[in-house]
Amino acid sequence: MTKNTTWNKAAVSAEERRCQKGHKPCLLWYTGLSGSGKSTIANAVDRRLFEMGFHTYLLDGDNLRQGINRDLEFSEADRIENIRRTTEVARLFVDAGVIVGAALISPFRAYRAQARELAGKSFIEVFVDTPLSVCEKRDPKGLYKKARAGLIPDFTGINSPYEAPEHPDILLKAAELSIDECVEKVITYLEGYGIVE
Ligand code: ADX
Repeated sequence: MTKNTTWNKAAVSAEERRCQKGHKPCLLWYTGLSGSGKSTIANAVDRRLFEMGFHTYLLDGDNLRQGINRDLEFSEADRIENIRRTTEVARLFVDAGVIVGAALISPFRAYRAQARELAGKSFIEVFVDTPLSVCEKRDPKGLYKKARAGLIPDFTGINSPYEAPEHPDILLKAAELSIDECVEKVITYLEGYGIVE
């Protein structure tokens, strides 16, 4: 924490924002390999919630790396910082009363746990569980091919680890389900926990 600063209390409370928006804010944290379908599913959920009339926003790892995280690469330290910054930004959205999605590979269990700690009880871990073989076959950006050829160092799943969640809040076997079925699972969860009605 920066020295000589104080926390200024907000005039509008979280409860007031919740009442105004008609839903509870939360952070849907999508984790999974590159090419697992995180962005696609997160966008489909975002679109559904938006059409239901809720205030949502999506933080996409690839996109953030073109802006706020543009100085970060894929070393362990940079991925940790990537998660930390994204969580802080997400926290601001949650504070503003928004249902926010964050779609990042976020390969390390310990740092996802830190994100959960930082975000508090609004954190919902969504594991987009697509086998490496399927992601590699899809290879939408041609990155697996490059990584196998030794052209990308520290590529997740190839020469950098991915630690799967052991107890995700929502498990999406995305290779076996349609996008709509994945969306349905997420919405059902949110309804079950009274986040949306
Ligand atoms: S994370 O590991 O730090 O959470 P993030 O989700 O932000 O990753 O970015 C992953 C995206 O960056 C991938 O979908 C892919 O397009 C691209 N990328 C480029 N280099 C790598 C790499 N070495 N490992 C994983 N993804 C990479």
